[in-house]
Amino acid sequence: MFIDRIHWSIDYDLSKSSYKNSYDHKVNVKKCFLTLNHICNIHLSVAVKNLKIILTNLIREILMKMIFLFLATTALTYGCGQNTTPTTSGTSKIQTGNIVGGTQVDPTKTDATYIVSLGGGCAGSIISSKWILTAAHCEPLFKSRITGGSVNLRDSKRIQLKIAKSFVHPSYNTPESSHDWALLKLATEIDFTKSPQLSAITIADSNLETSGGLNDGVMATVLGWGVTTENGSQPSMLREVDVPLVSRERANTSDAYNGAIDETMIAAGYDEGGKDSCQGDSGGPLIIKNKNGPQTLIGVVSFGEGCARANKYGIYSNVAFANEWIHSVMDKN
Ligand code: ARG
Repeated sequence: MFIDRIHWSIDYDLSKSSYKNSYDHKVNVKKCFLTLNHICNIHLSVAVKNLKIILTNLIREILMKMIFLFLATTALTYGCGQNTTPTTSGTSKIQTGNIVGGTQVDPTKTDATYIVSLGGGCAGSIISSKWILTAAHCEPLFKSRITGGSVNLRDSKRIQLKIAKSFVHPSYNTPESSHDWALLKLATEIDFTKSPQLSAITIADSNLETSGGLNDGVMATVLGWGVTTENGSQPSMLREVDVPLVSRERANTSDAYNGAIDETMIAAGYDEGGKDSCQGDSGGPLIIKNKNGPQTLIGVVSFGEGCARANKYGIYSNVAFANEWIHSVMDKN
């Protein structure tokens, strides 16, 4: 009876994937040792054998769970990381990628303290002590953890910024991705003297385009935490890449975007491809680094066909065009 109980108590129940009454087992093994009787010893060795089977089953179960978890995360990463939106021309606009062909931002030299992360999936730029400018298509991430103050996404000292209200441009539309801007109002105003890790970037003037500031060939820089190779993993360190602006005329040719680029958008990149923003960079800044003045925010990462493909320039929502809307929202709210 006693021996039976040792057996019974450590049986592995395959149907329930659990171990029956291990407490009972412990008590009886202890009793067995105390009595030191011969039969008890034999059965104790049987119990040890059973224990080995239990451990093997346990390890197998853990391994199976790990494999399942790995497969599930891979499926989620690659299955949901790419979204395809039809363009007006009927071709598909595949949105994948990263800052392609760029370099890591040097934390000791950077003045990119205006860039914030929207939970890693999108970025934004601080444009005043109360406002962040990002892309309208990042709306699903407006309630995520918004942080800034470090080029490193894993830095525990990142400053969290609470959002009180969000404003998506009323003319934002899909699938054209026109008017892709959104403003996020902070719950608490930033005190830049108390938080020098944060800053605000100047937004482009509404006359920047007419004054030639967005002409074909003008060099700009795009920054972000997007993945660094198509289907690659996301870096934790901020990256940047320099890209020349491309005229709307050239971006609208049939081998580029075939007429889909309107005045609310600007294009940037190389005809041969190779350098671009990509998935995860959305909402983030396209800037001009003026030699003798503050940097200017001229674009918001919006979309592209693939990433860094020849003639498929990166498309940014045009901040100069949005200047008046931005000021009217900030003034009224
Ligand atoms: N829509 C992408 C995002 O959500 C950005 C894609 C930019 N693509 C490009 N080729 N520049 O992160």
